[in-house]
Amino acid sequence: EKVVLAYSGGLDTTAIIPWLKENFDYEVICCCIDCGQGEELDGLEERAKLSGASKLYIENVIDDFCDNYVMPCVKAGSVYENKYLLGTAMARPTIAAKLVEVARKEGATAICHGATGKGNDQIRFELGIKALAPDLKIIAPWRMTDVWTMESREDEIAYCKEHGIDLPFDASHSYSRDRNLWHISHEGLELEDPAVEPNYDDLLVLGVSPEKAPDEGEYITLSFEAGVPTAINGVKKKVSEIITDLNAIGGKHGVGIIDIVENRVVGMKSRGVYETPGGTILMEAHDQLEELVLDRDTYAVKKDLGNKFAQVVYEGKWFTPLREAIQAFVDVTQKYVTGEVKLKVYKGNIIKAGTTSDYSLYSESLASFTTGELYDHHDAEGFINLFGLSLKVRALKKQELDSK
Ligand code: ARG
Ligand code: SIN
Repeated sequence: EKVVLAYSGGLDTTAIIPWLKENFDYEVICCCIDCGQGEELDGLEERAKLSGASKLYIENVIDDFCDNYVMPCVKAGSVYENKYLLGTAMARPTIAAKLVEVARKEGATAICHGATGKGNDQIRFELGIKALAPDLKIIAPWRMTDVWTMESREDEIAYCKEHGIDLPFDASHSYSRDRNLWHISHEGLELEDPAVEPNYDDLLVLGVSPEKAPDEGEYITLSFEAGVPTAINGVKKKVSEIITDLNAIGGKHGVGIIDIVENRVVGMKSRGVYETPGGTILMEAHDQLEELVLDRDTYAVKKDLGNKFAQVVYEGKWFTPLREAIQAFVDVTQKYVTGEVKLKVYKGNIIKAGTTSDYSLYSESLASFTTGELYDHHDAEGFINLFGLSLKVRALKKQELDSK
C-alpha cells in the first residue's frame, strides 16, 4: 500500500519516511508542494530517495495559491483577530488539494503530514483531506505518541542515522517557521514569552525592521480590475509576480511586521511574529479603492463577512459551502473595484498618495461645503427628526418618570 507524505525536505518530514516504512510497511511517495517558500529545492530528490521514499513529486502551485486562495482572502479583506493576514492558513487547503490529487494519481490509501498535535495546521490539512477525499486514511505521526517516540531534533537525527540516513542536519534549535509567497511566520524561542521583545535582527527573513529601513520613502502604483491587481507601476503582471515585487519593496521599507498573541482553534493562545510585506501593501491598496467605490451598506456587510471569512479560513474550513457562499458575495461586490492606487511606503508605514477610479462614488461637489443641486440642507432637518424620533421618545419618557 502507498502513502503520500507532505514532504518539506526538513528533518521532521525526512525522519517520517523510515518511520512510515518501519511501522506501517508503506511505500512512501513524497510530495513537496511549493507555495513559494523560496527554498532551494535542488537536492530534495536525492534526500527523499536516500531516506527510503520510492518517489518524489515537486509541485509548483504558486499561481494556484495566489489566484485561488490568496486573492479570495484579499478581496474579502480577511484579517484574523485584527492582525493576522492568514498566510499559513490559506496555504493549507492549497496543499491538501494537491496531496489528494497525487494520492489519487498514485492509488494511495493514506496521506501523512508532519504537523504537531497542538496546532492549527493539523486541523487545516485534515479538514481539507476529509472534504476532498473522505475515504483516505490520515496519518499524523506527531500525535501518535505511543509509536512516535522522537521528542527532539537530536532524537530525529539519531533515528535517521540508525536507519542509514546520514544527512547534514542541524541539531540547533531555531524558530518554528512557515514560509510561502504571502508570508513567513516565526514562533518559538524567546517569542514564547509575550513579556519579551522579539529579537528582530535574528528573526526577520523577508525584510528589515522600520528602524533599519531607508530614510527615503518609495512610491508604488497598483492597478486593479474587479478587485484583482493587474499591474504594478504601470507594468502588467500576474498576481504572483506583483506579490513578489511588493515583498521586495515592502521588506526593504519594514512594512507588514506584526507581533500577535492569537487564539488557536485547539484552545491555547500562541505568540507569533509574521512578516507579510507585500500582502500588507496589497490589502491596504485594495481597501483604499473599496473606500471609493463601494456604497456604505455593502461596505458594512462586507466588513462583517470578511471577518467571518477570516475565521473560516483560520479554522481550516476552506472546502465548505459557507466559504463558497461568502466568496460569491464578495465577488459580486468587486465588480467596480477597478482603478489605480498610489501609495508611499516609508519606515513601516503605508501612506496614501492618491486613488482614482472611473467608478468612484466620491463626489467633490456633494462633499464640499458649498450648497449644490443634489443636496438641500433643509432636507437634513426632517431626516434628523425621523432618524432621532425613537431616542427622543425614550428621552421624553425618562423626563416624565423622573419628574414623578
Ligand atoms: N499560528 C499561525 C497559524 O496558525 C502560523 C502557524 C505556522 N505553522 C507552522 N507550521 N510553523 O496560521
Ligand atoms: C504545528 O503545530 O504544526 C505548527 C503550529 C500550528 O499549526 O498552529
